[in-house]
Amino acid sequence: MGYQTLDVEPCSGAMGAVIHGVDLSGDLSNQAFDEIHQAFLDHKAIFFHHQELDPHQQIAFARRFGPLSIYPFIEGLPEAPEAFEILKTESDERNFGGAWHSDMSFATTPPLGTMLYAQEVPEAGGDTMFCNTALAYNALSDGMKDMLDGLVGIYSAALKGSGGRAAAFKSATAMTAKNMDQVEMGAEHPIVRTHPATGRKALYVGKGHTVGLKDMTEAESRPLIDFLADHCVRPEFTCRFRWQAGSLALWDNRCTMHFAVDDYPGQRRRMRRLTIEGDKPF
Ligand code: SIN
Repeated sequence: MGYQTLDVEPCSGAMGAVIHGVDLSGDLSNQAFDEIHQAFLDHKAIFFHHQELDPHQQIAFARRFGPLSIYPFIEGLPEAPEAFEILKTESDERNFGGAWHSDMSFATTPPLGTMLYAQEVPEAGGDTMFCNTALAYNALSDGMKDMLDGLVGIYSAALKGSGGRAAAFKSATAMTAKNMDQVEMGAEHPIVRTHPATGRKALYVGKGHTVGLKDMTEAESRPLIDFLADHCVRPEFTCRFRWQAGSLALWDNRCTMHFAVDDYPGQRRRMRRLTIEGDKPF
């Protein structure tokens, strides 16, 4: 769509757009915000470069989209508990977010969006990849769409397939884990969800968090979950964002997944993350 005030540059044919020439640190006019919100819905992930944002400024921008939610497993910043840092140091081995997922799909009301602000980035690498799960849904056959209609997924925070959530933090020494006794937290959601703002259907399934399909055996569920998760990340449904220090990304968890690429051994990457409250998927 056309924008009156924004310079919007799409990242790929599938999704994602860089918005140029906006300073997010101060008051945005309602018109500028409405267009940013529209660009978020149109492109599913929006990116800004050259931003200087302290936690409070980032929170103020995020709150324009709705109330914030708290990530349950990492300590928030002392001055802004809604925010936490994703930090990988020179010696850390574990990469937070290094599997395709939609944030907190294990929650009863997963966040509508995630906002990540880059404070330190490696010289090269540490990109984030995204996929458009609405496009992936559209590309399925009518027969598959009919079969998925009404299927309910079981989502868990436990990350069993990757050695467990507690293990995931063991070598990520720079981040302080919390609530490790709650890693079995989970929820049930439709495998195909409808976007509350656009009405478009999107797949809602990832290999790590979707641990089964309701009323089906593991043997029946797993091949279907794996097929759908692999289908979502076909190259033609993706885009890739290269960070600079001062870049900010906001992605729509209702119709995308993302993957933090771990290709910068021995270097630091430090991001500040916020999530915006969403609705119960339907
Ligand atoms: C995440 O999954 O929220 C982290 C993404 C990233 O660090 O690129």
